[in-house]
Amino acid sequence: MGSTTVVIIGASCAGIPIAHALLKDTPSVKVILINPASTFYFMIAAPRILAKPKAFRSEQYLLPIEREFAHYPKDVFEFVLGVATSISVDAKTVTVNNERIISFDYLVIASGSTTRTMEDDSGIPIPFKHPKSDNIQTLIEEAQQKISQATRIIIAGAGPIGVETAGEIAEAAENRGADVHITLISATDRVLPVLKPRASEVAEHRLKEKKVEIIKSRKVTGAIRSVDRSTWTVSLDNGQSLHADIYIPTVGVIPNNSFIPQEFLDSQGWVKVDEELRVQAGTGSKLPIFAAGDITNNSMKLSFKAAEQAAVVAANLRAEITGKGKRRVYNQGKSIMMLVPIGSSGGTGQIFGWIPWSSLVKMIKGKDFLISRAHSIIAAS
Ligand SMILES: Cc1cc2nc3c(=O)[nH]c(=O)nc-3n(C[C@H](O)[C@H](O)[C@H](O)COP(=O)(O)OP(=O)(O)OC[C@H]3O[C@@H](n4cnc5c(N)ncnc54)[C@H](O)[C@@H]3O)c2cc1C
Ligand SMILES: *[C@@H]1O[C@H](CO)[C@@H](O)[C@H](O)[C@H]1NC(C)=O
Ligand SMILES: *[C@@H]1O[C@H](CO)[C@@H](O)[C@H](O)[C@H]1NC(C)=O
Repeated sequence: MGSTTVVIIGASCAGIPIAHALLKDTPSVKVILINPASTFYFMIAAPRILAKPKAFRSEQYLLPIEREFAHYPKDVFEFVLGVATSISVDAKTVTVNNERIISFDYLVIASGSTTRTMEDDSGIPIPFKHPKSDNIQTLIEEAQQKISQATRIIIAGAGPIGVETAGEIAEAAENRGADVHITLISATDRVLPVLKPRASEVAEHRLKEKKVEIIKSRKVTGAIRSVDRSTWTVSLDNGQSLHADIYIPTVGVIPNNSFIPQEFLDSQGWVKVDEELRVQAGTGSKLPIFAAGDITNNSMKLSFKAAEQAAVVAANLRAEITGKGKRRVYNQGKSIMMLVPIGSSGGTGQIFGWIPWSSLVKMIKGKDFLISRAHSIIAAS
């Protein structure tokens, strides 16, 4: 029996576990994993990494990917450092960096999402995720420096990333005795709108204790940098203008889809998948292409949801390749599991219907932003 080549685009919370699962359990398979960076970035801790440069060592949050695959035979695994630039469904190929063409029998799209803070016009990028090139350490250091020097910071978006980042920057300023004005802008009438109102109250209370100014029910209508690029003017939908040294837009997640055929994408740019996580092109034909994680049109963009999807894709690939084993389906469900530290001593969140005590949020996540679990996301099980 010849071997089956599975190409995986994206090596993070979704792509890496799929590669491990196939290499472990599926005979005669070759996995080719494509990623623009040689390291996995533990983005969950990004708010603390960026606000508190001394909190962690870079080895704790930037973990070499290939090391996790060193124990597989050389001929069954290949890591390709590069950016997938196009997919040909008919030829069953992926092009990397517009030059190398790689053939697949099966393809997995796990290219994830990013934040607006990484867009080219953001001035100094705030790396909550990897950029296209393999230079994240430099970007992190530049952002850390910029953040620690700023005296006026505007954060747009009061979801978990905005709230956590506001809390961390405020606490870092407090710790070094600096007078920093942080403004958090929420489009909704309460912060953390996906959680229960009680969680929003706790978050707002803690943020105010840390002297974060919260502006609610306001949208950012524009953000412009001064000619010398040193300050920002941020306009709100009531005509108000605010000024800052740094502007951090955490609003909205952007799909990494520039290389993905248009017919795979829904109107928001996410990859349409069925419940087996097979990509849907609208033609009704059964494609040898799956997707997992943030890039899919499943709405919960969370790391543990990416891991759940990875297990489903791996099982379905195995069933398809070997003709054996059970197929699985993914259903994200409705329950909410989220812990949102606000500084190192507490926070809020929601565990199913329950709002955890601040001290529990501290104990589980606030103390170290789960950094000790970073390796488990990419390790072979
Ligand atoms: C600041 C922050 C905090 C978060 N905190 C939490 C949390 O506490 N709990 C939680 O559950 N979730 C959290 N999340 C969400 C979580 O990070 C995502 O759900 C998770 O990263 C999704 O994993 P993924 O593998 O689908 O995509 P990603 O992690 O986005 O990874 C995609 C990978 O694909 C690569 N890629 C992209 N384009 C290409 C291409 N063209 N070619 C090759 N490779 C490509 C990227 O470089 C990246 O390595 C947080 C996110 C952020 C930004
Ligand atoms: C993901 O998409 C964003 C927005 O288009 C882009 O800035 C970023 O470089 C992309 N990341 C990768 C790894 O391609
Ligand atoms: C994703 O898109 C497919 C195809 O349009 C659709 O059948 C499916 O219900 C969508 N998934 C979600 C979670 O909306």
